[in-house]
Amino acid sequence: MLKDKTILIGITAGIAAYKICELIRMYKREGANVRVMVTPNALNLVTVLTLESLSQNEVFVDNFDIKEYKPEHISLCDEADIMVIAPATANTISKVANGICDNLLTTTVCAFNKPIIIAPAMNTNMWKNQFVQENVSKLEKFGYNILNPESGFLACGTTGEGRLCSLDKIYNKTLEILNQNNILAGKKIVISAGGTIEKIDPVRYISNFSSGKMGTALADAAYKLGADVTLVSTFDINKPYNVVKVESALDMEKEILKFNNNVDCIIMAAAVADYRIKEYNNQKMKKTSDYEIQISLVKNPDILKELADSAKITKIVGFCAESENLIENAKIKIQNKGCDYLIANDISRKDIGFSSDENEVYILDNKLNIEHLDKSSKSEIARKILEKVFE
Ligand code: CTP
Repeated sequence: MLKDKTILIGITAGIAAYKICELIRMYKREGANVRVMVTPNALNLVTVLTLESLSQNEVFVDNFDIKEYKPEHISLCDEADIMVIAPATANTISKVANGICDNLLTTTVCAFNKPIIIAPAMNTNMWKNQFVQENVSKLEKFGYNILNPESGFLACGTTGEGRLCSLDKIYNKTLEILNQNNILAGKKIVISAGGTIEKIDPVRYISNFSSGKMGTALADAAYKLGADVTLVSTFDINKPYNVVKVESALDMEKEILKFNNNVDCIIMAAAVADYRIKEYNNQKMKKTSDYEIQISLVKNPDILKELADSAKITKIVGFCAESENLIENAKIKIQNKGCDYLIANDISRKDIGFSSDENEVYILDNKLNIEHLDKSSKSEIARKILEKVFE
């Protein structure tokens, strides 16, 4: 039930920390990818080795464990679908409620914009403390899912409210929230990605700088949201959904058109070459004594326009790569193409677009309404685009 979901567990220094080992197993049994981070003090109660063995993933503790160029708190935020803080101590609850970021866990929570479950566990008097209660209310008010502690025998020897709620409760809440996120369940979506390759001869071709990252991020996001996904890509990639490998614009046209009016949505994120070689040379072209040679190009079909012209039930979404006058060109393009939505991005900026992991886009609809999506990871942008198209 949790296949393809990533659950980020934050363990803080409550004695109930040992119970989380079983929670990890429950998530793993259902196919989840489990990432674990612990506060430094929680390591007095559970070991990294136990957590790594159970989660089958590296466990994170501090802020300065920087992998590649991405700080951990950002990469874990990107990867996870949900965060579960259990047990949550009075200390961590109060820090989170006040925006304090003094370790990897609290820093991650601050940057995490997806659902968060908090399962507090502590001594009864601490739980009833007015500041703790005020902070819990504050978190609830801002949309955190609080699973109140239960009454029972506590590790401090007393009996009362403060015991971590049952693991089943945490597990069921996780399922409930993740299923709510399946907003594309039952939808069929086809996405194109990558730059087409237009062959000149058996050794040479014309192509472009598209990395296919945006199209692949869209396919990943659609799949995570429960859609039945087909990615028509110029790259050979291994994914849990259907991938159709193509090379040229003509190949792509053939594969993509099959889906028009058979699926709910087609998103043309691919950089399709506008022209192809007029006459493909079956043999390698030889160097001549001429200083200059000419290769004739002929126009490729405009797949997006063809789709939009014939779509009856399928929503058609295009992309618009511009190096200048982004909005003006996008407005003209959506009218010329006739698609339902156009995602405009500025390829002149080095920090976004093509091979970058981030993007910043404008979503235009066919009534020329425009929505701006701030710069963020391509996976985040992808999710927002899908939410908009299926809103
Ligand atoms: N597209 C397409 N077929 C083509 C060219 C582009 O389906 N032969 C699609 C792209 O996948 C994208 C949209 O059309 O969704 C816009 O692509 P873009 O390169 O921005 O624009 P072009 O139509 O190629 O026009 P120009 O190059 O003049 O900006």
